[in-house]
Amino acid sequence: MKRTLAEPFKIKMVEPLRVTTESHRQQALQTAGYNPFLLNSDDVFIDLLTDSGTGAMSERQWAGMMQGDESYAGARSWKHLETVVKQLTGMDYILPTHQGRAAERILYGILGGKGKVFLSNTHFDTTRANIEFTGASAFDLMPDQALDLELELPFKGNIDLKKLEEAITHHRPENVAAVIMTVTNNSAGGQPVSMENIRAVRTICNNHNLMLVLDGCRIAENSYFIKQREAGYSDKTYEAIAREMLGLCDAFVMSAKKDGMVNMGGLLCLRDDKLGRECTNLLIISEGFTTYGGLSGRDMEAMAIGLTEVFDPDYLHYRIRSTAYLGEHLRKKGIPVVWPIGGHAVYVDAKKLYNQIPVHQYPGQMLVCDLYTKGGIRCVEVGSVMFGKYDENKKLIPAAHELVRLAIPRRVYTQSHIDYTIETFDDILELRHQPRGLRIVYEPPMLRHFTARFERL
Ligand code: F0G
Repeated sequence: MKRTLAEPFKIKMVEPLRVTTESHRQQALQTAGYNPFLLNSDDVFIDLLTDSGTGAMSERQWAGMMQGDESYAGARSWKHLETVVKQLTGMDYILPTHQGRAAERILYGILGGKGKVFLSNTHFDTTRANIEFTGASAFDLMPDQALDLELELPFKGNIDLKKLEEAITHHRPENVAAVIMTVTNNSAGGQPVSMENIRAVRTICNNHNLMLVLDGCRIAENSYFIKQREAGYSDKTYEAIAREMLGLCDAFVMSAKKDGMVNMGGLLCLRDDKLGRECTNLLIISEGFTTYGGLSGRDMEAMAIGLTEVFDPDYLHYRIRSTAYLGEHLRKKGIPVVWPIGGHAVYVDAKKLYNQIPVHQYPGQMLVCDLYTKGGIRCVEVGSVMFGKYDENKKLIPAAHELVRLAIPRRVYTQSHIDYTIETFDDILELRHQPRGLRIVYEPPMLRHFTARFERL
């Protein structure tokens, strides 16, 4: 008999959740144009929109906040953060930024430009946007078999090494600005990347004299999967595994809003002196002085503590297993989910679940709306609303998949919240044969999923 996976923490402070009725939620959703990004959080019961910046800090982190040193230069809190991050990365240049995309803007602003190419297992959307903004191009190089949503692979977030070699030859090494490995691979279902894969990428980069960047906002979660699934790592600590991953890379970009266990913060870390100095200048111009970047002293103190706590074995076990708990129970109910379950989120295959709704009526967005109406649960469509494009006749070119992401904030919800979420899918199963979805009545030219408005058909 397996025991219940009890949360390895107890609750010291409570934040009330508002319980609403289905008719209240129907009204709220209509007002929000059937786009949960436009809902007020007070109208949401369980918020699974993102795991970014939505975690709960520990008592140690809150105590650290009180001790934050707000000096402009050389603050104690900065020294604390710098020491922790230097130990983790072994890199000389540690630049604090206000969040991940600020680090991306600085680094890719310098490396990018017209004619440059970036190659990755998968670029996260802000990564791609920051690269394309410079005039450069970004290519995702996933193995074909990883596109099979149900195929069980231990490291489904890996880059395809053959495609990487081919892309370098095709674009010519001198045009490749960097190879970026995203761990875990968020846009591909939060799937992990193996050490073997990163090591092979390092060898390829060495052969062509290319820079290797780790986008590691979920590096501790990736370390968990390596320890559990990759030969030779079962005796290593999670921190040692993370250090080994970082040791293979030239730069580290991190949104600390994930595994940094803070509500705001980011990092850009580099080895190279010339690039380190260039990025430092841009940091000072756009974020802040080198010893605070985009952060206050208390933020840096909390991040230094969070980056230590995240590698705690009890925490990481609870974290990964509780995400899997949600996914496994949904699968048992007959809900099609991306398999295996990744680290920070469960992805539902809405095209398969709502198979009567055509893709141009956005089955994923319909599921997002139904989860909110039925259970007050907020999540996000990762399908043709987010990634769809139009052809010259304004006909939708759909995304490869119609997914819905249920992202789990860190240390926030208990098992009963997750059980409640699982139960809400009983109501969803009753709706699975509905024939109609939504149509877009307003959309901006870029990143439309944030502000688009819909109408029910
Ligand atoms: N890289 C990855 C892999 C991410 O998942 C994110 C953010 C970023 C970079 C950008 O970091 O938000 O601090 O500027 N992902 C969030 C999400 C927004 O919901 O998955 P940021």
